[in-house]
Formats: sequence, structure tokens, C-alpha cells
Amino acid sequence: MHVIRRPDWALPESAATPESVWLDRRAILAGMGFGAAALAAAPARAMGPTPPDFPHPAPRGDAFADAGRPVTPEEINARYNNFYEFGSHKQVYDAAQALKTEGWTITLDGLVEQERKIAVDDLLTAVPLEERVLRHRCVEAWSMVVPWIGFELSALVAEAKPLSSAKYLRMETFLDPSTARGQRQFWYPWPYVEGLTIEEAANPLSFMVVGAYGRVLHKQFGAPIRLHLPWKYGFKSIKSVTRISFVEERPVSFWEELQAAEYGFWANVNPEIAHPRWSQATEEVLGTGERVPTQLFNGYGAQVAHLYAGMEAEGDRLWR
Ligand code: MTE
Repeated sequence: MHVIRRPDWALPESAATPESVWLDRRAILAGMGFGAAALAAAPARAMGPTPPDFPHPAPRGDAFADAGRPVTPEEINARYNNFYEFGSHKQVYDAAQALKTEGWTITLDGLVEQERKIAVDDLLTAVPLEERVLRHRCVEAWSMVVPWIGFELSALVAEAKPLSSAKYLRMETFLDPSTARGQRQFWYPWPYVEGLTIEEAANPLSFMVVGAYGRVLHKQFGAPIRLHLPWKYGFKSIKSVTRISFVEERPVSFWEELQAAEYGFWANVNPEIAHPRWSQATEEVLGTGERVPTQLFNGYGAQVAHLYAGMEAEGDRLWR
């Protein structure tokens, strides 16, 4: 029998602001006074080793230079992560250091002209890299602003040369319980899987991330390569990707397999469609102490709303 454990976000809304954030905030406010200036001046706290500077040029594009909110301080982001492979809590920065990223490859297979493995190091010299400052909204009703470094997913799709019969991308994270302690928790359907349509993958907003804050990606952010889909709830943005399969059938994702009624395939951000157990109307902006209204498609509707035209039949599933 399968034992289903609920993720941390399976909480009532009243509990959606995690204790660790309050504790961090209280410590900062008590020691330094109030406000963003205080945050900026906060002493460095443990967040795992600081990764090296990003080794390739990655200019900040005008279109994504400003997310309309201040960038979340690196040490707040790096101490507050969802990476269940390393524990079903937020402080995974120590455990995630076990991740071995050297020589990382991604397998491109399924409905492609020819299956192949591509080394991330080779990829980085083959694709146009850029920095994008993007909002990142978790289904748990918190958000951050992150200066990601990466490239458009469409560049990787072009490398894969999918056949016209391919309708979806099925993306997979590594499987290695010897380094990822969380993967010894047998009740989760490892490895982590996520998916999106070929049309979504072709959208310029679909971004493969290989760095952040001017550095190589912190391991806890999903090194050495993860996805970021800023208009969808964060669980769609799969970390530490090892395989992308081009398939005809809609893939079933990790969270969908665990709790399909709550975590669907589309998971587009919508403040008007509540999670079955809490509201999505507002979000806690981590590191600021502010709760702000959530925006439809996380504010990226101009770029992506057309992808979902005429899909009313999907009902609430389009939004959770
Ligand atoms: N990818 C993998 N492989 N494992 C995970 O546990 N968590 C998801 C997503 N990608 C997760 C994952 C969730 S729930 C969120 S909100 C984001 O990663 C968190 O990304 P962050 O830690 O960089 O904020």
C-alpha cells in the first residue's frame, strides 16, 4: 500500500507563512531595525558554500531587467528552498551539498530524430546566455524575485530535434538515494517528474536556469540546471534535470501523482482560484514582511495568456 505524505504546502492558509521566515525576519528586525535597508545590511548567514562566479558572459536583457519588486537577498533565497530530494523542509542547503554536479549530462530522448546525451558544460558554450530578473511564486503562497542566469528552453528543444508527433516534454530529475536522502522516503514517487506542452516549451518565457545572483547555481537551487516557468506555480519548475523525453501523452507529474485534486498539469497562477485548502489571492514576499495581491499568470499574461485561449473545458485544472 502506498502511504501518502502531504507536502509542506498542504497547510491551511493561516499556517502558510512558515516559522523559519518569521524567525529570520524577527532576528533581522530585532538586530538591525526595520525595512529593506536593514535586510540589505543583514550579516551573511549560513546558506551552504558560496558558489563561484558564473564563468560565461550573461548580459541582463532589457525585457527582464526589473521584476517590479526588489530582488530577494541571496542569503534568504538560499536558506529557503523546496528540494524534496534533500528533505521535506526548507533548510536543505547543507544536505544539498552532497549533489555531484561535475560532468552533468541531460539525456534527450523519446520522439526525437536521434536520442542523445548533451553535457551541460558543452551546452553553455552553444546557447545564448542571459540574466533575467523574474518573479517566482510558489503554490504555498510565498514569492521571491530572483536574478536567474540561463537560456530559453527552446534552444534545448532545437538541439533535441523532436518529431512532429511529440506533443509534450516530460522532464526528470536525477535518482540517487545514496546522495539524496529524501529519495529514501519510499512513499514519494521518485524521481521528480514535471511536464509541459511543446507550445509552452517554445514560449520565450520558458527558461533553463544555470546560475543565479551572478554565480554558478547554488546546489539547493537545483544545480547544475533547472527550469523556471515564471507564470506557473513553482512546483512546475523542476530542478537538477537529467532527462527530457519528447512524448505524445501528457506526462503525470510528481505532485499530480501524489495529490491530483490539488496539483494539476497546468498550474497557471490565478489569484481567483483557491487551492482546495487555502486562498491564492495574496502572497508573502519573502524577505520583505509584505503580503501583496497575486497577479494572474504571476503578471506574465501578456507573454503567455494566448497559450490557453479556448481551454475553458480544463476548468479549475488550468489554475492548480
Ligand atoms: N524540483 C525537484 N526536483 N524537487 C523539488 O522538490 N520543488 C519544486 C520546484 N522544483 C522541487 C523541484 C517547488 S515546490 C518549488 S516552489 C520550487 O522548485 C522551489 O524552487 P526554489 O527552491 O529555487 O525556490
